[in-house]
Amino acid sequence: MVPWTNDIRRYGAVAMLLHWGMAILLAGLLILGLYMVALPDAGYDRRKITLILVHKAVGMLALGLVLVRAAWRTANPLPAFAAGLPGWQQVAARVVHLCFYALMLALPLTGWLMSSAGGYPVPVFEWFNAPDLIATDEHLFRALIALHRWLAYALVVLLALHAGAALWHHFARRDDTLRKMLP
Ligand code: HEM
Ligand code: HEM
Repeated sequence: MVPWTNDIRRYGAVAMLLHWGMAILLAGLLILGLYMVALPDAGYDRRKITLILVHKAVGMLALGLVLVRAAWRTANPLPAFAAGLPGWQQVAARVVHLCFYALMLALPLTGWLMSSAGGYPVPVFEWFNAPDLIATDEHLFRALIALHRWLAYALVVLLALHAGAALWHHFARRDDTLRKMLP
């Protein structure tokens, strides 16, 4: 049985669930986001609007989860790095992890701000409407769409680096880095 909390050797069940659950959610949001913006504008086809609404609701769920995750991370010890890992790689890993947290916050926030600036609602699974964060502003709306897109591209680049590093540790360096994050 994996313990709920982290210890110095490995991540606990809660951190693993949040890590892999959010990895699936974020990959899904990236693919859905790129797919939905490429669809032709609505007309009689409601598919684009429906997918944007799903994207917003799941994106807001990701925002809620990252707050829980950040709180859980600060309340738990961080597992140690693999033995003998060079200092620059330890720093690089920590920087990438911090950038992930920044992106996991900034992506949903820019999505939410963008919707407010454009005068569009943010319904969360027909449960409640997230309040408008700012007044409508066409110029800001366009700028936030671009920012949201570039943040998403940055997430893809970091994900490739991070997943590549995890596989390198497992298959080339043959250490416990990936196993620390697996049951
Ligand atoms: C971590 C969470 C999120 C990720 C990874 C993500 C990712 C993306 C991606 C990849 C696109 C396509 C960008 C493009 O090629 O133009 C996109 C578009 C969009 N996202 Fe998100 N998103 C997230 C959260 C949100 C949230 C919470 C909202 C709103 C509440 C939102 C609203 C939108 C909208 C409205 C578009 C379409 C923009 C346009 O009209 O071009 N996103 N998102
Ligand atoms: C968008 C997807 C992903 C994000 C945002 C992400 C983010 C993170 C973050 C922030 C950490 C630090 C621990 C924490 O605070 O939870 C971490 C650790 C880790 N991730 Fe990911 N991750 C993603 C996908 C992946 C994938 C696809 C793999 C494997 C191929 C992976 C393997 C690992 C491993 C092995 C660790 C432990 C590293 C260590 O502590 O030395 N992650 N990840």
